Amino acid sequence: MSFPATRLRRLRRTPALRGLVRETSLSPDDLIMPLFVTAGTGVREEIAAMPGIYRHSISELVDEAAEIHAAGVSAVLLFGIPSEKDETGTGAYDDAGVVQMAIRALKEALPDLTVITDVCLCEYTSHGQCGFVRDGEVDNDITVELLARTAISHAEAGADIVAPSDMMDGRIGSIRYQLDEEGHSGVAILSYAAKYCSAFYGPFREAADSAPSFGDRHGYQMDPANGDEAVREAKLDLDEGADALMIKPASHYLDIVRRVKDETGAPVAAYQVSGEYSMLKAAGANGWIDEKKAALEALISIKRAGADFIVTYYAKEAAPWLA
Ligand code: PBG
Repeated sequence: MSFPATRLRRLRRTPALRGLVRETSLSPDDLIMPLFVTAGTGVREEIAAMPGIYRHSISELVDEAAEIHAAGVSAVLLFGIPSEKDETGTGAYDDAGVVQMAIRALKEALPDLTVITDVCLCEYTSHGQCGFVRDGEVDNDITVELLARTAISHAEAGADIVAPSDMMDGRIGSIRYQLDEEGHSGVAILSYAAKYCSAFYGPFREAADSAPSFGDRHGYQMDPANGDEAVREAKLDLDEGADALMIKPASHYLDIVRRVKDETGAPVAAYQVSGEYSMLKAAGANGWIDEKKAALEALISIKRAGADFIVTYYAKEAAPWLA
C-alpha cells in the first residue's frame, strides 16, 4: 500500500518517535582515542592542524588518558614519536622505547583502559617509509620480521591489542605466530586490513613527523580506486589470524566498510583519520558548519555503514555529547 496510506513522516513527527525507530546508535564505548606519545618530560604540544590533539610525554599522557577514560572511552591507540630515528627504525622495537614505556605507565595507572598500539616503522625510520628500505624500495619480508619484533615488545609491555598499519604482505600471520611462540596468545590483532594511500593522512604526518623523505607509499598502501582488493586483503588477514579488521580512512570509504562487514562478518573498525578531523575542525572554526552536528553525523554514518567501533580524534570531545 503506498501513498496516501503509507506516510513515512508519521514516525518522524516527534523526538520520541524518532528515537523508537532509530536504527543506529553511537556511544562513548564505540570510540577509540588515538594518542601521540613523545620522548622527554613535561611535554604537552598541540598539533597545529589538529586543534585539541597533543603530543604528550609519558606523565602528561597518563593524565590525558585518565580524562578520556573518565569520559567513558574505554580504549586508546598509541603512536610513538621517538627522540631519535634511524635507517632500520630501531626505536620501534626497543623495550625501553617511548611506546613501550607509555604502555607500562598506562597499565599501571589505568589497568582497565584497553591499550592498543600502532605497529609500524614510519615514525621510527629516518627516511619515514613504513619499513626496511633496500635498493630504494621497502623490502616486505625483512620489514615483517621487524614488525613482529615490535608487536612482541608491545605485548611484553602489556598491550591488549596490536594494530599493524604497514600494509606488508604476510605480516598478520607472522605476528600471530611469533606472539604465540613468545607466550602472548591472549594479545589480539586489529589489522589495518584495507589502508588506502590517502592524502587525508597529511596532518598525522606533521604530528608524528613521519612524512617519507623520498617517494610515497603507493607501493604498499592501497589504491583508492579499488574495492574488490580490500575484500581480498580483509579475508587474507582473517586467514592469517586477525581478530578484527580496520578500514582507513573512514568517511570516503564507507562502501568498503559495508562490503568488508558483509563479506566477512568479522568485527570491523574504521579510522576517521587526521585529515577528516582537521577538515571538520577548520570548517567549524570558520563558522561554515556546525562542528558538533557535523562530527556526530560523520560518526553515525561510519557506524551505519557497518563499523563496530571507530578510531577518532573526536573520541574525547564527543564522549560527553553522547553520554
Ligand atoms: C602509520 C600510520 C599513519 C596513520 C596511522 N598509522 C600514517 C601513514 O600511513 O602515513 C594515519 C593516521 C591519521 O592520519 O590520522 N603507518
